Amino acid sequence: MRHRFTFARSVALFALILQTGCTAFTVSPQASRPEPVPEPLVIAHRGASGYLPEHTLESYALAIEQGAHYIEADLVITADGVLIARHENNLADTTDVAEKFPGRRRTGMVDGQQVDGWFSEDFTLEEIKTLRATERLPFRDQSSNGKFLVPSFDEVIQLVLSRSRELGRSIGIYPETKHPSHFAALGLPLEEPLVAALERHDLDRADAPVFIQSFEVGNLRKLDGFTDAPLIQLLSAPTLAPFDQESAGTGLTYGDMITDAGLREIATYADGIGPWKGLIVPRDEEGDLAPPTNLIDRAHAVGLAVHAYTFRSEARYLASQYDGDPGAEYRQFFSLGVDGVFTDFPDAATRAARNLQ
Ligand code: G3P
Ligand code: CA
Repeated sequence: MRHRFTFARSVALFALILQTGCTAFTVSPQASRPEPVPEPLVIAHRGASGYLPEHTLESYALAIEQGAHYIEADLVITADGVLIARHENNLADTTDVAEKFPGRRRTGMVDGQQVDGWFSEDFTLEEIKTLRATERLPFRDQSSNGKFLVPSFDEVIQLVLSRSRELGRSIGIYPETKHPSHFAALGLPLEEPLVAALERHDLDRADAPVFIQSFEVGNLRKLDGFTDAPLIQLLSAPTLAPFDQESAGTGLTYGDMITDAGLREIATYADGIGPWKGLIVPRDEEGDLAPPTNLIDRAHAVGLAVHAYTFRSEARYLASQYDGDPGAEYRQFFSLGVDGVFTDFPDAATRAARNLQ
């Protein structure tokens, strides 16, 4: 049984509280002293990706300006073993790789799917540094296309630490291992360079403002063996399965993992869960809200923190019951007890979290 949850999470939260001052105090009926009530964590999903191209230093910096507590960096790896911040190893949708390296396109298998494109594992860091980021979503602002570099994980850490020092508040880092089985099979495992990077910056500690996340199970168990940093098991739709479990034929689905027994098992190697928000507030076939589940309470009952993904302010993502107000969605999740939210719009989440106080 993993015992570091309470310590790791409470230390990380209270470090943030002390350094950000983002705390209110309530007086419990049983106690004469006020108890601090931490704000839910605002986790900048791929940076302030609602405003600037995702996973760029500029997007992370904007998220910090907007008050984010943690910067999320999805990680893939290059041919020469350097972790870079990208949501997937296919670089086609978020960079100008097609223009810069037309001859390097190929088809490959990634997590059991045939993918056509340009893959991070085929490029050195030097080559990656010739690329420029582009906006993935056509309905978002395209005016920054071609301006920003693809950052290494080390550069992300350096930015976060330097902004923490300049602002005098603790900003956390929330790396996700993307396609861990795929990269391990290529002889380019993500876990060792990830932990090495944290060690270089003295962040491989239970009380460091760090959460490491994965949709797979095997690599989180592996990480549990050699890092003290808090770990988060990501959870997708109940009918889906972690890729490592699917390829090993265990039959384990995310649906199994959100049962009481499944949550107890997660608590043996992780400190929290990162559920798709539909596991907390489901929607029906028309996209209307259904009654909330009790997942947050059941996760808390076994000592797991709950950080839900992904909150977006655009009307196309909001259920009609929120009446066009992103704040209404945050308020619902905060009232259900969520400990953190992954958001493309850290300013909106920060406003909602502060209004709670
Ligand atoms: O990591 C939490 C959330 O980011 C999971 O979804 O696909 O955006 O990485 P994704
Ligand atoms: Ca992610």
